[in-house]
Amino acid sequence: MANLEKLLVERFAVAFAAVAGERVDPVVRRSQHADFQADGALPLARKLGRSPREIATDVLARVDLAGLAESATISGPGFINVTIEATALAGFLTEMQADDRLGVPVAAAPETVVVDYSAPNVAKEMHVGHLRSTVIGDAVTRLLTWLGHDVHRANHIGDWGTPFGMLIEHLLDLGETTAAHELSVGDLNGFYRAARVKFDADPGFADRSRARVGALQSGDPTTLRLWKLLVGESEKYFLAVYDSLDVMLTGADFFGESFYNPMLAPVVDELDRLGLLHESDGAKVVFPAGFTGRDGEPMALIVRKRDGGYGYGATDLATIRYRTQDLKATRLLYVVGAPQHQHLEMVYQTAREAGWLTPPARATHVGFGQVLGADGKKFASRAGDTVKLADLLDEAISRAAAIITEKNPNLDEPTRAAVARAVGTGAIKYADLSSDWIKDYVFAWDRMLATTGDTAAYLQYTYARIQSIFRKGGMTPESGGGAIRVVEPAEHALALELLAFPAVIDEVAETLLFHTLTGYLQGLAGAFTTFYDQCPVLKAADDETRASRLALCALTGRVIEQGLALLGITTPARM
Ligand code: ARG
Repeated sequence: MANLEKLLVERFAVAFAAVAGERVDPVVRRSQHADFQADGALPLARKLGRSPREIATDVLARVDLAGLAESATISGPGFINVTIEATALAGFLTEMQADDRLGVPVAAAPETVVVDYSAPNVAKEMHVGHLRSTVIGDAVTRLLTWLGHDVHRANHIGDWGTPFGMLIEHLLDLGETTAAHELSVGDLNGFYRAARVKFDADPGFADRSRARVGALQSGDPTTLRLWKLLVGESEKYFLAVYDSLDVMLTGADFFGESFYNPMLAPVVDELDRLGLLHESDGAKVVFPAGFTGRDGEPMALIVRKRDGGYGYGATDLATIRYRTQDLKATRLLYVVGAPQHQHLEMVYQTAREAGWLTPPARATHVGFGQVLGADGKKFASRAGDTVKLADLLDEAISRAAAIITEKNPNLDEPTRAAVARAVGTGAIKYADLSSDWIKDYVFAWDRMLATTGDTAAYLQYTYARIQSIFRKGGMTPESGGGAIRVVEPAEHALALELLAFPAVIDEVAETLLFHTLTGYLQGLAGAFTTFYDQCPVLKAADDETRASRLALCALTGRVIEQGLALLGITTPARM
């Protein structure tokens, strides 16, 4: 299916090239003042030393807008304002209507992508940082999969390292059955803290713990069995959270730190052979180019600690080598909190120097900001603890249930429960995805769950309202519509919004800035609301108009449904 914006860009590009003598960007964009605006005359004027209005006039004389534009005029210093022809809009919408993918093509060059996300730590509570990673990673996974890429989900759980000595000893003290019970009910913080307290207070326990780390590293079978028990119980708990959050992660996606253990020695050997390995204070380190400390000295990334153990850095180097060489991935995405930016950039640079990350392969840190409480401080419970994700989800769902009951007391109980879940989890996900991920955001229930404004609930209500139009008319969205005609200004505006969907998806697939998509869906829902206010649908003056308007309703519903689905948010048919 042709994409309106792309077509327009192409037509203008030809005209601009004729005027400029070379290909230049026509700078086509949606605009407040017209359907589209082409602003390329301004930068070109600077380049050619001519007046922008003159250039715009030349371009306008040459541009072929047949079948696309009703009018094109020059405004201001040399902007070209374009109004799209109603029949062109109707034609594009008809193609969109017939397309399962709503005009979004599958990727011309599908890639193998690895998304590293969620990554909670074994025997520790998942916190809102892990929630953000999980929600953003889930959206990335859904979007890139929908576009036809081969997406690997890599849940880099923290399942290895020195804390496991004390955790295993604590498990033995409790007895396996009691320990397993504590872990499976999700009292991970309690478990971890108790181990920590003993470690700090009891030298005998601390010694046992250290010996246990040694036994774990050397592969002692009993120790490994206990370690697996700890990891297994935590994984069960994480999977339960994923299930209630309705994200795609499964048990097959756990590729924890321990998965990379066999690769660490080869990674370090290879760095050594390449001459990249240095000695520093008894540790083995690398000095990736471009990283200097405050003192101007090169900064070290530790790959092997003084005690011979491998660190977090070595493991992350192994993730890159494995993902590019074994999985043959070309796009590596790390959905990890912003504070780890420097660590990851040092890892990427080292991998480049080692030849493990060469174009077209590239690694990107999708580094998100913190979740803050209403007080502007790190989001925490009243007692100052990390908030348990499971509790947070329960609260979201019960708050959503109360709002839904108030708005629609007649919903039957099973529907109400399902809607509450969709709205509650939707609110949490949407709050995460509708803000630029680099920014911190304030966790505020009232704003998240509002049924108007920039929320999932508003979009879900808009969707449900569209479905209710069809129910009232005694038909389905599939059967209800007819040939689309664009007549009224509100129909014209809605058509432009609908047709912008493919370009938005294109952009988000590249930037992974999901707030571009949420902003778009808000604009679409707004255009729909205006349309629905101004253009009677079921009571339209004649059958053709009614059929056309129903088709516009159905198409709007599909775009909202698809757009939210890419964010991992569901759309109940009634609310
Ligand atoms: N487990 C880590 C944490 O909780 C996050 C791991 C992120 N992924 C990675 N490849 N380093 O902070």
